[in-house]
This record gives sequence, structure tokens and C-alpha cells, in this order.
Amino acid sequence: TQTGLADNFGRVATDLRVSLTDRCNLRCTYCMPEEGLDWLAKPELLTDDEIVRLIEIAVTRLGVDEIRFTGGEPLLRRGVVDIVTRTAKLQPRPQLSITTNGIGLARQATALREAGLDRVNVSLDTVRPDTFQQMTRRDRLKDVLAGLAAAHEAGLTPVKVNAVLMRGVNDDQAPELLQFCLDHGYELRFIEQMPLDAQHGWSRDQMVTADEILALLGERFALSPTDAAARGSAPAESFTVGGYETTVGIIASVTRPFCGDCDRVRLTADGQVRDCLFARTESDLRTALRDGADDDELADRWRRAMRGKLPGHGINDPSFLQPVRPMSAIGG
Ligand code: GTP
Ligand code: 5AD
Ligand code: SF4
Repeated sequence: TQTGLADNFGRVATDLRVSLTDRCNLRCTYCMPEEGLDWLAKPELLTDDEIVRLIEIAVTRLGVDEIRFTGGEPLLRRGVVDIVTRTAKLQPRPQLSITTNGIGLARQATALREAGLDRVNVSLDTVRPDTFQQMTRRDRLKDVLAGLAAAHEAGLTPVKVNAVLMRGVNDDQAPELLQFCLDHGYELRFIEQMPLDAQHGWSRDQMVTADEILALLGERFALSPTDAAARGSAPAESFTVGGYETTVGIIASVTRPFCGDCDRVRLTADGQVRDCLFARTESDLRTALRDGADDDELADRWRRAMRGKLPGHGINDPSFLQPVRPMSAIGG
């Protein structure tokens, strides 16, 4: 549309991913180093009011109808329930979801539901405590499992689980993780690892591909692709599992890219618009906002920010360069 977040390749962003913090209480080896990262300083972060104002502009002027809160770990942000509450009051009311590592979810699930959150996606790569400790460098599996159960109980459904497989670490556990999710009614999606880690340690041959994942699962389960037309702009290809109601998905960003159908735009915790997860440039809304720009001007800046969106992430091009910000500072 004329007033929406259109790019030069015919795509329109209607799904806004808002990072609430770049901090995290886990240290997943495929994401960040043991010592953590140089976190953003408080004055650099958007305030709760600034976040809500930018979301309001996106929803009321730019056609955004879905908001996903991400991190780092978004539940670490003190104002998360308040931000959800205020976002849920916007008209037209956007769909509201959160992507979390699940720690703190047991405590906050009911409050988030009451604030208006519709659903959650929880990251969980294994159901074995020793593998969890090895992959996240923290002994918090119990908290995550309690968080999942609380989210399900609170009606934050469908509860989705995101899993990254690492070769020789948890790839052989793919079927047991699926069994766990099927037994609990959680929709599991396996994600191909992307070159977004802070340590720049990604390599194509370490990545467990969609084909490999399907082969691993095929040994234990009867998978059939669901109607491809129903996928829309979702990153996950979805499969039915014989004998179960719940589906399983694969997010194959690298071997089966879906950029042509992208409807996403991102806002970082420090107020920068990113037109793509892999963008090499950002548009600074925070400075404009703090310099007193009105809503019209901010909306215009946001529209202009989309025009540089590239047709694809380019991971498979020889000239590919990893974005400057790591995954944890973008929000995935
Ligand atoms: P649903 O609306 O529940 O399908 O959410 P989602 O899968 O889009 O979001 P989630 O935050 O759970 O992300 C799951 C995985 O998909 C993460 O690894 C994200 O980095 C990845 N992902 C999300 N959006 C994009 C995108 O625009 N491009 C690519 N390549 N990956 C994405
Ligand atoms: N590639 C793919 N997925 C990743 N995640 C974190 N780092 C990467 C990466 N390099 C996952 C997290 C979480 C989701 C938001 O992204 O495990 O489930
Ligand atoms: Fe934290 Fe997510 Fe990175 Fe793990 S992948 S360290 S949960 S931001």
C-alpha cells in the first residue's frame, strides 16, 4: 500500500519484531561467548514510553498488525508486562507474541496473558539436563520446562518451541525432543543455524540442514508436508506427524530461503529500524524521536528505511558478510 512499509521488491512489512533488551541470562554457544557481550548502556535503550510510541506509529499509520517482542531475553526487561498492556490497547489491536528462552515465564505467564499477550515461542534445544548445560552454559532446564507448562496453562497458545541442532551435540536428540513436544502439545520447529553468532563461528558444514533433520525424524515419525499455500509468509515449513494433532516445522533459512515472502521489519532495543535480519544498514529512529520529530515525520522515516531492503539475505552468495550486530542484539 501507499502508506505502508513497502520495499522496492513488492513486499510489505506488517509484522514488527521489537527487541526489548540485548541482554540474556543464558549463554548459548551458537549465540554468544561465555563472558557475554558489551551490552547496550541504559541511555541508549529506548524507554518504555518510546517503545510504545513507535509501536503505535507502526500500528496506526504503517499497517503493522503483528508485534513480536524479542531480545536478548525479553522477559529480563522490567517493563515487559506494562509494554504488552499498552500495546494491546492500540486500535486496531495487533496480534501480540513473544520469543523467549522460557526462564521467568513460569512467574510471568499469567500476567502476560492478562496483559493481552496472545502466544509465546520458547527456545529449547534439548530435554536432557547435561546437554542443556553444555549448550546454554547454564543449569536452567527445569525453569524452561516450568515456563513452557505455565504458558500452555495460561492459554498462550499455540505454544511453539524453537530448536537449533548442533552436529555431534544434540542432533541425535531430535526425535526425543519431538516426542516431548508432541506429548505436551507444543509445536516444535527446528531451525537451521544461521551466520549470526557473535563469535563468527558459523560454518556451512557444521550446520544441520533441513534435509538431514527430515531424515532424522523420518526414522521415527511419519511426516507429511501440510498445504504449502497455507504457509503465507511464515518462516517455518510445516509437517503433520502421523498419529498426532500437533505439527512440526522446519525453518530452513539457509538451504530453503523464504525472503521472497518476507513481511517483517525489526526495531532494535536502541531504536534502530532494520529492514532485514541480515541488514548491513539501519535507520536511526531514536535520534529523530529524541530530537522532537512528530509522528508524521517518524512514519516517513520508517517508510524510507524500507526502500533499501534487499531481495534476500545473501547467505549463499560468495560475497556474503555477516551483519555487524549479532543475533542477540537483533532479536532473531
Ligand atoms: P511465528 O509467527 O510463531 O511463526 O514466529 P517466527 O518463527 O517468525 O518467530 P521466532 O521468533 O520464533 O523465530 C524463529 C526462528 O526464525 C528464529 O531463528 C528467527 O531468527 C527466525 N526468523 C524469524 N524471522 C526471520 C526472518 O525474517 N528471516 C529469517 N531468515 N529467519 C527468521
Ligand atoms: N541461527 C539460528 N537460530 C538461532 N537462534 C539463536 N542463534 C541462532 C542462529 N545463529 C535461535 C534461538 C531462538 C531463536 C530466536 O533463534 O535459539 O530460538
Ligand atoms: Fe540468550 Fe537466545 Fe542467545 Fe541463547 S540464543 S544466549 S537464549 S539470546
